[in-house]
Amino acid sequence: MDKPKIVLGVSGGIAAYKACELLRRLTESGHDVRVVPTESALHFVGEATWSALSGHPAVTQVWETVHEVPHVRIGQQADLVVVAPATADMLAKAAHGLADDLLTNTLLTARCPVVFAPAMHTEMWENAATQENVATLRRRGAVVLEPAVGRLTGVDTGKGRFPEPGEIFEVCRRVLARGAQAPDLAGRHVVVSAGGTREPLDPVRYLGNRSSGKQGYALARTAVARGARVTLVAANSELPDPAGVDVVHVGTAVQLREAVLKAAADADAVVMAAAVADFRPARYAEGKIKKRDGQEPEPVALVRNPDVLAELSADRARPGQIVVGFAAETDDVLANGRAKLARKGCDLLVVNEVGERRTFGSEENEAVVLAPDGTETPVPHGPKEALADTVWDLVSPCLT
Ligand SMILES: Cc1cc2nc3c(=O)[nH]c(=O)nc-3n(C[C@H](O)[C@H](O)[C@H](O)COP(=O)(O)O)c2cc1C
Repeated sequence: MDKPKIVLGVSGGIAAYKACELLRRLTESGHDVRVVPTESALHFVGEATWSALSGHPAVTQVWETVHEVPHVRIGQQADLVVVAPATADMLAKAAHGLADDLLTNTLLTARCPVVFAPAMHTEMWENAATQENVATLRRRGAVVLEPAVGRLTGVDTGKGRFPEPGEIFEVCRRVLARGAQAPDLAGRHVVVSAGGTREPLDPVRYLGNRSSGKQGYALARTAVARGARVTLVAANSELPDPAGVDVVHVGTAVQLREAVLKAAADADAVVMAAAVADFRPARYAEGKIKKRDGQEPEPVALVRNPDVLAELSADRARPGQIVVGFAAETDDVLANGRAKLARKGCDLLVVNEVGERRTFGSEENEAVVLAPDGTETPVPHGPKEALADTVWDLVSPCLT
């Protein structure tokens, strides 16, 4: 079988050198990669590096090997085009259909999925022109990754950093695996919560739970590959930030509520995969609670935390917003799940069985997705990304 053909477009940002790592990962995993740099990109990394690493000439203009009509053929034959880094200039050209070099021509002729990994200074990213260009590209079905937050060129820090090449590679792998399926979440904003909240007792202790965040992160990653803008509200997860996702880190249930409600204001769907503590200690001790000789410990009084899923379901931030909950049950799994669905008023409830060595921290999951009309969608034991895709398969047709 022919290797899948990938075009790696490189535009003129400082992060061009990181695209060499992405190129290596793509070639080493069995893809035929053709690098199409812009003239500006060659100021950062030279033609020799791209050619040697890809095994193909790296041409910037349409005027070489004209008999092969490269300005049309390269795009037509590609299975995936990934532009990494994508400059503000490149996003503008792509959004407006300019075609003044080989990469912009390729973007116009490609019929395959297209991924952009923007990287630039925060001011350039936040500029209304760039934001509108990104929204246009997303609406047309391109996967545009949210840049990461961190160190930029020079001493600046902020949003605009090139995501880790390994994470961009994972996005490419997922987008390729979807083949000809349309990016059904293109132009949508989805919010996912992940991980487990921690409710502090004193400066060193907390009440927590065993959630690793893997299921929520899988939901965020798969939504990116389906074209969505994704906000991930992550509670105490040690997993690396997924590429292309806006990650808001939180600690407690109260912080999670605040972050989720804020992000949900303009969201098409909210998926609450985080394990949110039902109760928190009524009192927070400013100093470490001490063990005293001859004294029994004080009982820990608890108070209720806000019920974020019920609140989101009852008070939709916008008409047609879809709210999905998760129920982690240890016994009477389906009966408890049905009761929870009725109680919370959400649109779908993913019910899974959990235990000390079950589901939490595992790479796999097994669940049943319940809908208010009684429909049950069983998801067999498999990777958490497969369950995530099933959730999006069910959410996507309901979006208005
Ligand atoms: C040192 C340096 C670093 C730059 N880094 C970026 C960047 O990270 N992102 C960006 O959008 N533009 C960046 N630029 C500006 C672009 O190179 C410039 O807009 C250029 O016209 C882009 O051309 P291209 O989109 O055809 O590659 C940088 C320029 C210089 C001189």
